[in-house]
Amino acid sequence: MLPTLALFSVLTALIASVSAVPCVQFDSSWNLYAFGGSEDVKLGANTTWSSPSTSTLSSSGRPPWTGTNSQCILSQTNNALYVVGSDSSDLSKIYVYNFASDSWSTQTTSGAPSDLGNSRSASVLDHDTNVIYTLTTSSGLYQLDMSSVTNSASSSALAWEAVENSSFSVDGYTVTATQAANHIFYFGVPNTAAGSANVFVVHYAYFQPDAQAFNGTAFPDTAGQAISIPTESDSVPYSMVFVPNDFSNTYIATHWTDLGDYTVTSDAPFATDLINSTQTIPAPTSQDKTASYAASPYDLVQVDSSGDIYYYATPVNADYTVSSSGSWQKLSYSVSGGSTSSTNSTSSASSSASASASGSQASGSATASKTASGSSSASASGSAASSSSSSSSSSGAGKNVVARGDLLGLAVGVVALGVSMLI
Ligand SMILES: *[C@@H]1O[C@H](CO)[C@@H](O)[C@H](O)[C@H]1NC(C)=O
Ligand SMILES: *[C@@H]1O[C@H](CO)[C@@H](O)[C@H](O)[C@H]1NC(C)=O
Ligand SMILES: *[C@@H]1O[C@H](CO)[C@@H](O)[C@H](O)[C@H]1NC(C)=O
Ligand SMILES: *[C@@H]1O[C@H](CO)[C@@H](O)[C@H](O)[C@H]1NC(C)=O
Ligand SMILES: *[C@@H]1O[C@H](CO)[C@@H](O)[C@H](O)[C@H]1NC(C)=O
Repeated sequence: MLPTLALFSVLTALIASVSAVPCVQFDSSWNLYAFGGSEDVKLGANTTWSSPSTSTLSSSGRPPWTGTNSQCILSQTNNALYVVGSDSSDLSKIYVYNFASDSWSTQTTSGAPSDLGNSRSASVLDHDTNVIYTLTTSSGLYQLDMSSVTNSASSSALAWEAVENSSFSVDGYTVTATQAANHIFYFGVPNTAAGSANVFVVHYAYFQPDAQAFNGTAFPDTAGQAISIPTESDSVPYSMVFVPNDFSNTYIATHWTDLGDYTVTSDAPFATDLINSTQTIPAPTSQDKTASYAASPYDLVQVDSSGDIYYYATPVNADYTVSSSGSWQKLSYSVSGGSTSSTNSTSSASSSASASASGSQASGSATASKTASGSSSASASGSAASSSSSSSSSSGAGKNVVARGDLLGLAVGVVALGVSMLI
């Protein structure tokens, strides 16, 4: 029994240091940002990505980044970021980042269902109403009206409201939702035909009884991550990105409906045969199921759980056809030093002077070592955390990935050992 216990404690310690989930997002002028490391950074326009010169964002009031299913959502109209599920001590809080003024505020909420935070694609911000819709698996669909919040939290709590239960069974569903043209699409709902997605119609506040079939290469009936591609004109989005957990492709699903009359197709902003169709681009290079994604009208970006960032240029052309001949490129910057959800690793708390949330930030300095390539720009910020990490930063950027592979093997071994002891 003793060796098993020893292995378990090693495992716990190692997992605690890799549990941060970074995210990426754009502002409404399509500068890229990376969040959730020891600092949040602006990476800038796509012309600079081959050699990004980062600037550090305000840390005052930033999220603790302890949630395991955090989502970073752009409110394009308000040039604001809404961070959902980033505080494991209270998943109902929404952190609001004002891109223009580089400032954070925290929106408290009331009446949240107890089972928020099902996945990194569970919440969708409706473009036109600025309402967050979150599907849970035991409380139905909830909404949170952010229209009065715009780019800064209000002092009073905002109330979550129950909308309705879904028309489809969410038993065992890892919610994979995004929107196009005032419809929220749910990909990978168990027992749905491949190539079909379930639908919530925002303007009429109801779940369609049947899933919508998409023409073109059928995406699998598998959960994954989903986001919308915003438009330059700040209209409702029309293109949705679905990266299923089988990484068979990156699917671009295109949807449009006439708001007044669903039988009208002549006003579509693209060829009518693209309505409810699926096109594909290659699967991401980093096949990480917990990665998160963001899009500008021009680029699709992924950050994986080891902090590496990849992008795909021009996934969708101006006429909404898809350029499948592109490829994913790695950005020469990685997110490092994120929080862990453990509150135990406080030994280096004094080194993270720049951090606002002391306990959980402290562990950031331990994991900061993995970003060899990012270290020059990181140290420019002059934070104590980055200087403390530099002594151990000789390891390459890929090292943590290797370590994690070993960790998985170890986990499998421990589980196998545990099972064999039970038997
Ligand atoms: C969803 O279903 C549950 C259980 O059937 C029920 O208690 C609840 O009121 C329903 N929620 C809504 C918003 O209809
Ligand atoms: C596209 O899907 C929506 C949502 O299911 C549906 O209302 C609409 O009729 C479909 N349009 C076409 C042209 O298939
Ligand atoms: C799929 O394509 C067929 C043939 O072009 C067309 O008749 C049908 O309406 C399309 N379905 C959708 C959902 O767009
Ligand atoms: C970069 O973004 C601009 C718009 O800001 C766009 O026109 C251009 O196509 C993008 N380039 C690449 C390589 O993604
Ligand atoms: C902290 O460590 C103690 C003792 O090792 C353990 O019992 C506890 O569960 C840990 N707490 C967290 C949040 O990891």
